[in-house]
Amino acid sequence: MGIEPVRLGIVSTAGINRLVIPPAKSSSRIDLVAVASRDAKRASEYAGEWEIGRSYGTYEELLADPGVEALYISLPNHEHVPWTLRALEAGKHVLCEKPLTRHPAEIETVWGLAESRGLVVCEAFMWRHNPQTKRFAELVAEGAIGELQFVRSLFSFAMSDPATNVRMKPELDGGSLMDVGTYCVSGIRLLAGEPETVYGEQVPGGEGVDVRFSGLMRYESGVRGLFYSSFESPSRKELEAIGSEGVLRLRDPWHAWRGGIELQRDEEAESERIEVETGDSYQLELEDFARAIRGEKQPLLGRADALGQARALAALYISAEEEKPVDLSELDREV
Ligand SMILES: NC(=O)c1ccc[n+]([C@@H]2O[C@H](COP(=O)([O-])OP(=O)(O)OC[C@H]3O[C@@H](n4cnc5c(N)ncnc54)[C@H](OP(=O)(O)O)[C@@H]3O)[C@@H](O)[C@H]2O)c1
Repeated sequence: MGIEPVRLGIVSTAGINRLVIPPAKSSSRIDLVAVASRDAKRASEYAGEWEIGRSYGTYEELLADPGVEALYISLPNHEHVPWTLRALEAGKHVLCEKPLTRHPAEIETVWGLAESRGLVVCEAFMWRHNPQTKRFAELVAEGAIGELQFVRSLFSFAMSDPATNVRMKPELDGGSLMDVGTYCVSGIRLLAGEPETVYGEQVPGGEGVDVRFSGLMRYESGVRGLFYSSFESPSRKELEAIGSEGVLRLRDPWHAWRGGIELQRDEEAESERIEVETGDSYQLELEDFARAIRGEKQPLLGRADALGQARALAALYISAEEEKPVDLSELDREV
């Protein structure tokens, strides 16, 4: 007999759900049973469109559904922690969209509650679940490019709907670092670990968010990580590791839709392509979550990773506001 699928509900009718619902439906580990919206008609139409059994016109009703074990929260950033806490209080496991928060103190609150209730909580950095990400990090760690010296990371796009997009609203915790720069920070951290100091610069726009953010992450070892995120630049998605003996590049690091790793040891030579298995990152993320709920494994991304990510984001925003580097060892615990 197979393992019982996790009965999942979705909090909101967000755009991102379209990449999560198909793999949820095709996975034997997930049973997508319900969706909630702030609007009952929208919820019901959405449930009809995606063939989801139950719909609710408030998020509270979904949290009260005893037939739902776990929730996928795809709300705007400012609602991530409040609804994660409410879901945990209601006894549900939570997979919450990235970034869970930019406030390290909130990570402690969320995991404190989850652990006290014996519930699983995961931050939905889907890119970390793809096998090409794992292989890339292994190659760097195994010394395929010698000693790691520098990581370069980009995620930018030209936003087509700035007047209405949730990413442009400061009260919804928008901003390019929160939205796409957070992947760049995650990428540098995966390869180089937690930085000692960071320096950030932001270009404000819209109603007061960072529409562009550039960051430098510094390590005692001498490694440097440099990244750029933007809502008003051509589409760039890059993760490159430079070592003493070569360069490794992930072609499509965040989505892995055009997967592949490139290794270049010599400027004159063609880069070598390292074939790797890819896969649907969203399905892998959901199945990692389901396995953790069923007690088969620890989730790939737990408390320590979420805390490291939130500390780096907090320090980068403080640095950009104060226009000076921030030492993470001096980061206030209450931030
Ligand atoms: N992992 C990824 O690949 C990926 C990709 C894109 C986005 N994301 C993340 O997913 C989250 C949602 O992003 P999105 O682009 O999908 O957002 P979106 O399309 O704007 O949807 C957000 C949803 O949240 C609900 N909501 C609740 N309060 C709201 C408010 N005050 N204003 C607007 N909507 C509100 C709405 O659903 P109802 O009206 O149904 O209640 C809305 O449909 C963000 O945290 C983002 O960072 C992740």
